[in-house]
Amino acid sequence: METEYIKLDRQNPDREMLKRAAQLLRQGEVVAFPTETVYGLGANALEGSAVKKIFIAKGRPSDNPLIVHISNLNQLLPLVKEIPQAAEMLMKKYWPGPLTLIFPKSGIVPREVTAGLETVAIRMPEHPVAQVLIEYAGVPVAAPSANISGKPSPTSGQHVWQDMQGKVAMVLDGGETRVGVESTVLDITRKPPMILRPGGVTFEELQEMLGQVELDQGTGKMKVPRSPGMKYTHYSPEADVFVVARGQQNFSDKFEKAYRSLSAEGKKVAVLISEETEKQMGDGIHPHYLEVLGSRQDLKEVAHRLFSAFRNADHQGADIILIEEFSEEGMGAAVMNRMIKAAGNKVIN
Ligand code: TXA
Ligand code: MG
Repeated sequence: METEYIKLDRQNPDREMLKRAAQLLRQGEVVAFPTETVYGLGANALEGSAVKKIFIAKGRPSDNPLIVHISNLNQLLPLVKEIPQAAEMLMKKYWPGPLTLIFPKSGIVPREVTAGLETVAIRMPEHPVAQVLIEYAGVPVAAPSANISGKPSPTSGQHVWQDMQGKVAMVLDGGETRVGVESTVLDITRKPPMILRPGGVTFEELQEMLGQVELDQGTGKMKVPRSPGMKYTHYSPEADVFVVARGQQNFSDKFEKAYRSLSAEGKKVAVLISEETEKQMGDGIHPHYLEVLGSRQDLKEVAHRLFSAFRNADHQGADIILIEEFSEEGMGAAVMNRMIKAAGNKVIN
């Protein structure tokens, strides 16, 4: 399939191009588009056969449900059986934005979207290109992240192109995404609501708003005991990822030691670290590739850069990515969740 690549201005996207993209969606084709979190791979959410094409393009297992994207609240009612009480204030505060809510689904949502579940995940993205695209399409748009299944999510049009050229009808390039990690997935059918995936809206923010919110224990916190042999990777670059845990001892010494032992085997090691660690690092380190993710205090910046840093390291031909553990506060929860999954739990303690 020939894939059209269209560059758009984020604030003032070409309306004619967006009309064409919307028409492709209505015709049952797949169009990749930017959101404020990561790029999505969209299809008409009301048409099972269109949604199937997303799974084929990504190589995604069909038992993993998709998020339905809407551009205004009128699109919500037909998709859901009821609106749980907690939803009202959450939607008011965070829509449009990086918060996905789980609702009991109505009959019009096809099985292909929800993977047979009785619930449906819905969010209203904030990116102007996404908003106008959905509005012009006139239908809700089902969209997972626009990467090949298992790879890091795309945060630029070029990332999408690398993974999706030849596989989808159109890629809309609306620039680098602002947040850089995916939306927070919050199950509001439970009391108290439960975070199924940490993301762009933080645990702390939701707790303040809801009073009580739980965090699914499977979300990859480093404290959770894990069986070493159970490798479960996701968001993974080609290179093998190792996370260097913070501890009592001097962190840059510990990081250097890990670097030396991994590169001793002749491997090309890429190093992804904070500004602070880079400053403390001695001259003993000459990584194959180095990227500074930002200050330890600026976890938003780290989230913004994480996935593209993984792709950069791959692009440079790294065999191994050695990455620094960050705090799990605020956006750090999403950062650490993605990092630990990308590492398949390989943590150097
Ligand atoms: O930021 C985002 O959320 C991006 C952009 C494109 O909107 N989308 C995204 O989609 O990350 P995806 O498919 O890569 O991740 C959706 C997550 C998956 O973990 C999926 O299992 C979960 O949401 N999910 C979807 N429907 C669900 C449901 N009914 N119940 C529980 N989890 C659900
Ligand atoms: Mg994904």
